[in-house]
This record gives sequence, structure tokens and C-alpha cells, in this order.
Amino acid sequence: MDIELPAVRSKAETVVDEDLPPSTVEYLNYRAIERNDWNIEDEDLFEKAADAGLDERDYGVMEVERDESLLRAADQAGLKWPFQCRSATCSMCVGVLKDGEAEMDMNLFLEDEEVEERNMRLTCVCAPVSDDLQIVFNAIHMPYARDIARNRG
Ligand code: FES
Repeated sequence: MDIELPAVRSKAETVVDEDLPPSTVEYLNYRAIERNDWNIEDEDLFEKAADAGLDERDYGVMEVERDESLLRAADQAGLKWPFQCRSATCSMCVGVLKDGEAEMDMNLFLEDEEVEERNMRLTCVCAPVSDDLQIVFNAIHMPYARDIARNRG
């Protein structure tokens, strides 16, 4: 019987150039999208967020080292991003990448399609690859994410 494992990329497959400067990460709270009646699919989502006068807990920019997880960087910045296991086995920390690239060094929860097509990332094990990226955090409140957490979890 073939067993299909979820998408996993080992650290060894990802070459981290330690000389690269930190990545600039623009973040947005999924709850702010709901409160403002925006849609996560909106092309101008981050432009609207930048103009909305949101609190820095909901929207802002932080620098993240290439070998640092997005969740850890958020912790260090004093932000309160949700998490539970910190080891890629739940989906409490899930975010949706809207621009740029960030890779997980392990993933024991998300299916390949959720990573590749829906751009979901477990922020506790996900480090930036591109110089700039945009991510919606607290995406566990998306209906789809809530469903998979309930059914898989
Ligand atoms: S906190 Fe559980 S997968 Fe990230």
C-alpha cells in the first residue's frame, strides 16, 4: 500500500545563504480582514491594510533572518501570533503567503495542494526565502483552515 506523506522539505534541500540580509516581511491579521469586510483573495489587500490605520498587532512590517521562523520573529517583535505545538504537527500557526516565497523545513499537517495551490504555511517552521514577502497570519480563522483543523486534527 502506498502512503502519501504531506509536503516536507528538509533543511538540507534548502540552501540558506547566511550572508543574505534579512527578509522584509509585511504581515496582516486575518481577523482584520474579517473586521474590514475585505477578502483574502483581494489583489489590493495589503494596500488597503497599509491605508487603514491598523494597529501594529494587526498590520506591519518586520525584518526576519533567512534561517528564522516567521513565528519566532513575530514573538521577538512582541506580536501575538497564535501557535500550539511549534513543531509542524497542528495548524494553529497557519498563515497564507500572498507574495514572495517562504519555505517550511518540515510539515506534518498540510497537504501538498494546500502548500502549492493555497499558499498555506506553518509559520512556526517557515523561514523567508525572498527578499520581501507578504503573509496573512492568524489564518486558522479562515473557514477552510478551521475545517481541516477540526477534521484532521
Ligand atoms: S504551532 Fe503547530 S504547526 Fe505551528
